[in-house]
Amino acid sequence: MTDKVHQVCINPDCGATYGIDEILFSCTRCRSLLDIAYDWDRLAVPHSLNFFEHRWGTKGLGAQGRLDFSGVWRFRELMPFVGPESVVTIGEGRTLLEQNDTLGRELGMKPERLFLQYEGLNPSGSFKDNGMTAAFSLARKLGRKRVACASTGNTSASVAMYAHKSDPPMQGIVFIGTGKIAYGKLSQALDYGALTLQIQGDFDACLRRVMQVSDKLGIYLMNSVNPYRLEGQKAIMYRVLQARDWEVPDWIIVPGGNLGNCSAFGKAFAELRALGLVDRIPRLAIINATGANTLYQLVEQQKVVWNGGRYDRDKVTAFYADLDARNYLPHTIASAIEISRPVNLPKSLRAVEIMNGLIREVSDEVILEHKALVGRYGFGCEPASAATVAGLRLLREQQVISPDDRVVCILTGHELKDPDATVKYHTGIDMKSVTPPPAVPPTGRAANPPIQVADDLEAICAALGETLPE
Ligand code: F0G
Repeated sequence: MTDKVHQVCINPDCGATYGIDEILFSCTRCRSLLDIAYDWDRLAVPHSLNFFEHRWGTKGLGAQGRLDFSGVWRFRELMPFVGPESVVTIGEGRTLLEQNDTLGRELGMKPERLFLQYEGLNPSGSFKDNGMTAAFSLARKLGRKRVACASTGNTSASVAMYAHKSDPPMQGIVFIGTGKIAYGKLSQALDYGALTLQIQGDFDACLRRVMQVSDKLGIYLMNSVNPYRLEGQKAIMYRVLQARDWEVPDWIIVPGGNLGNCSAFGKAFAELRALGLVDRIPRLAIINATGANTLYQLVEQQKVVWNGGRYDRDKVTAFYADLDARNYLPHTIASAIEISRPVNLPKSLRAVEIMNGLIREVSDEVILEHKALVGRYGFGCEPASAATVAGLRLLREQQVISPDDRVVCILTGHELKDPDATVKYHTGIDMKSVTPPPAVPPTGRAANPPIQVADDLEAICAALGETLPE
């Protein structure tokens, strides 16, 4: 008898399976990404999404109440890979879907058509907490003591928070690039006590290094190549549905960075459809920043499609070889999505197929303008999140989205994550240059300054107090 839950390679020509307790971040046979797969026939799955309604009333203390309080674990039957005894939760996912007619009117939408999903209301201020609660629960089950991630900021804030909130606590190690992190996010990683390594390089370089280091030193990796992260992020879609009384919207719009979120959304809807819990699937729009537009270029210009898992790998390889040849580095004010080598690219292609999706790119200028509109008419968001609203404007202009469509923009991060971008937009003053970081080392007794380290495996291991294993 096979396990009810297992890990499976997403490459249909491989399809290797692994136990859920095997610590792997890609298929050992073909290096493709892994999925968490469920044998739903042998699991207790609700017959209707209405089943989850009662959990509003049962949230609170005690083992079950603690799970019901979480906007992720409230839907635990749809991600049944871990028992309640292992769950690490700090009340994530208590977020808000706001109907915003004023902004909708500004974008040419009819009333009651535009909804903003504020994922910035999570404990660490971004959607990442949805995935961290899931991946940390597995890490706890497996008895992991150290966890690591590379980050443009939000992942590191979330990892740092969940690491010290786990029981027992874990050590959080975060890799950040040089000068590419909003201070709101950096301040969180430092304050929550993560060991913070600042590598000479961009996010893509950090991710390569953290994957190598985690592999060599046996540290549990918390980036979105960890398939459990995406299981948790499916819950964003469940909450959108719940806030709409289980009515499926016409469009979901999400920013595209490392492409974990959009991939999770595709998986969520594929499963809901297979389980007969939804009768249709919304369309997906993934919005890239123009300065970090790998997915846009591959899908919209080079016409790369999932094709049942047999996507055109040669085109992708050639695209990256060209980036290398030009020494291309992504650049956007939306630093959260300043990524040119998204690790979840294959899964995002699958999501595009499942949700009849499309990709658009928007410039920094347009992102900032729409960020200001979300601030003026809503509760604000960080630049990457505003790419969604900017994308909606573009899709309205292109007449892809009609004024009648019901559209949900996922606002992935809190406004206060990146106040510099906001102040600079509204005043022209660059706060970072007004208050340059002090040259003297900090003297506070609880200070936790980042460690500057070269983009070099040996030097990184030394900074972690280890020598590079043979
Ligand atoms: N929006 C925000 C606010 C983010 O922080 C990120 C990713 C994204 C969108 C893109 O999401 O990677 O799932 O496509 N931030 C990562 C980080 C990369 O390190 O914090 P994605």
